[in-house]
Amino acid sequence: MLRGMKEISEEQIHYYRENGFVQIDQMLNTEEVEELREYLNEVMRSTTGHSTQTAEQGNAYYKVLNQRVNTWRDHGGMARFVLSERLADAAKQLTGFEGIRLFHDHALYKMPQDSKPTPWHQDWPYWPMKEQNALSIWIALDDVDEHNGCMMFVPKSQKIKNLKSIDLVEPQDIFEEVGASDIDRNKAAIVRMKEGSCTFHHGLTFHYAHANLTDQPRRALAIIYMEDGTTFSGAGHLCTDAQNFQVGDLIRGGLFPRLA
Ligand code: SIN
Ligand code: NI
Repeated sequence: MLRGMKEISEEQIHYYRENGFVQIDQMLNTEEVEELREYLNEVMRSTTGHSTQTAEQGNAYYKVLNQRVNTWRDHGGMARFVLSERLADAAKQLTGFEGIRLFHDHALYKMPQDSKPTPWHQDWPYWPMKEQNALSIWIALDDVDEHNGCMMFVPKSQKIKNLKSIDLVEPQDIFEEVGASDIDRNKAAIVRMKEGSCTFHHGLTFHYAHANLTDQPRRALAIIYMEDGTTFSGAGHLCTDAQNFQVGDLIRGGLFPRLA
C-alpha cells in the first residue's frame, strides 16, 4: 500500500459535487510516479494473464487508446497502486460514500503517430451498474496538455442521465443526443496537469481527451470506484460476464474489494 493519505479540501469536495470532476495535484510523489511508470510499462508488455488488452496494434481503437484492463490481477506492483487506500479514500472524501469498492483499473496509453482523440462520452453507460454514481480517478504519468492527450470535462454535465454509450471509434455526437441540449461544449475545461497529479470524474460527466501529437506515449492509470452497495444491472461487461451475478445483486467479492 502507498504510505500516507491525501486530505481533500472542502473547496475541492464542493467543486466535485457541483461540477462532476475535480483536479487534485500531487496525488503521487516523484518516486511513486517513477515506480508506477515502471510497473505500467511491464504490464503493457504482457500478453497473457487475467488482464485484458482491449485493442491490438493496427486496430482503429488502438489509435484512440492502447488500453489494458485489470492490470492489478497480473502485477503486484500495479495492485499496490490500484488497491491503494490513499487513492480510494480521496474518492470517498469527494463523494461522501460510506464505503468505496474497486470496479476495475485501466492502463491508458495514447500512442504517438496517427493518434485519435478520445471522443466526448460519459462512462456510466458502459458499466453494468444500476446506480449512476460511480467515478474514476485518472492519474497522469506524464505531464499532459492539449498536445499529448490531456482531458476536457464539461462542468455540471453529470446531471444528464440515461444517455447511451458512444462508439469510441465512430463516435456519435453526444451533444446532439436527446436530453443533452443544455450542455455546452464551449464551457469545457481543459485540464493540463503535471505527472503524479490526477482528476476524479463522475461516471456521467461528459469528457474527451485530445489526440497525442508528440512522439512519446501519453501514459495514464485510471481506476473505477463504486459505492459499496452498488448493484448489478444485468448489462454485459468484461469484468462481470464471468461472474454469477443476477440483476439486483450487490457487485462484491474478491474481484471487487472494498478499499476505503
Ligand atoms: C483517455 O485516457 O484518453 C480517456 C479516459 C476516459 O475516457 O476516462
Ligand atoms: Ni471515459
